[in-house]
Order: sequence, then C-alpha cells, then structure tokens
Amino acid sequence: MSNDFSGWMRERQERVELALERLLPDAGHIPKPLHTAMRHSTLGGGKRIRPLLAYAAGEIGAADLRHVDNAACALELIHVYSLVHDDLPCMDNDVLRRGKPTCHVAFGEPTALLAGDSLQSLAFECLASDTPGEHPARQIEMIRILAHASGSFGMAGGQAIDLGSVGVDLTLPELEFMHILKTGALISAAVQLGSLCGTELNPEHSNALKRYAHCVGLAFQVVDDVLDATGDSHQLGKTAGKDAEHDKPTYVSLMGIAAARELATDLHQQAIDAIAKLPGSDRLADLAHFILQRTS
Ligand code: IPE
Ligand code: IPE
Ligand code: MG
Ligand code: MG
Ligand code: MG
Repeated sequence: MSNDFSGWMRERQERVELALERLLPDAGHIPKPLHTAMRHSTLGGGKRIRPLLAYAAGEIGAADLRHVDNAACALELIHVYSLVHDDLPCMDNDVLRRGKPTCHVAFGEPTALLAGDSLQSLAFECLASDTPGEHPARQIEMIRILAHASGSFGMAGGQAIDLGSVGVDLTLPELEFMHILKTGALISAAVQLGSLCGTELNPEHSNALKRYAHCVGLAFQVVDDVLDATGDSHQLGKTAGKDAEHDKPTYVSLMGIAAARELATDLHQQAIDAIAKLPGSDRLADLAHFILQRTS
C-alpha cells in the first residue's frame, strides 16, 4: 500500500462529506422530518468506499475532481438509500447503522421509506446537473449506468433475491449471482463513473478496469459476510450476527469463515492482477487492499 494512502483516503472522505453536506436539502426545509432523516442517514458516517473508487478510477484518466465529486455524491446517495431500505422491518429489520439508530428507528417507517426514495431521486438530479468535460453523451451514459446498477438487474434485484433466499440452500453460483447484483453492481458503477469523468480509456484498459471492479465488488460482499459473523456491533457500527440469525445464505454459511476469507484473498489478487498493467491505477490497488483488510 502506498505511504500516502491513508492521507489520500481521509482527504477524499472529507471532500465527499462536504459535497454531500452542500447537496442535501437543509433540515429547515419543509418537510423538516424528511430532510432531517435524509441528512441523518447520509452525513457523518460510512467508509465512502464507492466515492473513493470513483475518485481512484478518475485518476487513471486525470479526471477533473469537481466532476468526480458529482459522481461520488450520486453513488453515495444511492448507497445510503439502499441502506435505509435494507434496514427497514420488511427487509433486515436492523436498529443500528453507522453507529447510530437506523432511519426508521429515529424517524418512523413512512419517513424512512420516503427518505430512501428522495435520496435516490437526488442522486439522479445530481448526475443530471453536471456535464463532465463538456461531454453530454458521457453524462447520459453515466446516468444510464447508475440507473441500471441500482435497479432490478442490479442492487434492487440482488436485494429481491436476498429476501427470497431466507432459509434456502443456494448453490455457490447462485450466491455469487446474488452478491454481484446486490453489492457488486454499484461498486462496478462507481469505477465506471469515475473513469467516465476522465479521458477515454482504450478497450484493453477499459476491460482491465471492468475485471477489477467485478472482483472487488464480489470481494466486498464476501468480506461483509465474514465481518457479520466475526465482528462485533460496536466495531461494525451495525448489529453483528444478523445473517445467521435471519438464516441468510452467505459465503460464511455456505463455505465457512476460513474458506470465505480465502476466497476474498483470492478475489483481491485477481483484482490486483487485472490492473497490473493499467497506468495510474495505484489507488485502485490500494483500495482493493483496504477492502480486503477492513474491520468495519
Ligand atoms: C454495507 O456497505 C452494505 C453492503 C453493501 C455490504 P458499506 O460497508 O460500504 O457501508 P458504509 O457505507 O461503510 O456504512
Ligand atoms: C445489503 O447487504 C446490500 C445492500 C444493497 C444494502 P447486507 O444486508 O448484508 O448489508 P448490511 O450488512 O446490513 O450492511
Ligand atoms: Mg440485507
Ligand atoms: Mg442488512
Ligand atoms: Mg451484511
């Protein structure tokens, strides 16, 4: 990992925090509970992995940071919306998120549902408001990629499979398919959006980036499954042990903790190999390492 990685990460995390703070409606705007709920769930927490991936992918094509800010905010808003809905009683019924009460615990279910809806709308409004490098066609492509990654062929589809799989013995390919959709799709979108803010990559480099994103996206959810089984709630900022309690099929339930850890290590290596010859991809390599080693 490069020496200045943690400084870079902190600086980018602060940058996206500030951009989100500016973008989100003030809590004083009517309806106040809705705007307060949106801010409660978005600000002051989370690792900001998707924004970080967008910034890192943007560096390959020397993207203007101001354009990546926009993509980073849109990605994080979609992610937070997915968390707010994921925590609802009709889904994972969680009370703790990012070390705080979940949105529905703090504001009630109807407001949490609408906060998620509104965060999703704001994400697309944000992407539609900025044309990266005067390339309107790219902007439309970014909107399309984010929409596809969030919808029934991406995150929402993965969540549907997750909810339909409680108590079901999925095969390994079925589990991989679910994880690629529910988590991998948005992570891949983060890499693609960041890259689209910079100069165009040749097909070989663009494929390398796609392979990297696929491996990192899957590794991310494998590690999430391991942490759910091995971490504690204080360290995670969310309730540990929920997957087993809810009888969810995970990499841990299917192959055990040791083999799931090995798989994550393997995917990390595949991600690193994919971008080995991609100039300017050091940050992406650092992020793959961070995703593997993280403890929350
Ligand atoms: C948690 O995502 C939900 C999954 C998709 C596994 P993160 O681990 O990125 O959550 P935050 O944003 O850091 O809270
Ligand atoms: C959620 O997966 C993935 C989303 C799309 C939000 P999990 O249900 O495992 O996420 P956590 O563990 O609650 O963060
Ligand atoms: Mg879930
Ligand atoms: Mg959950
Ligand atoms: Mg989880």
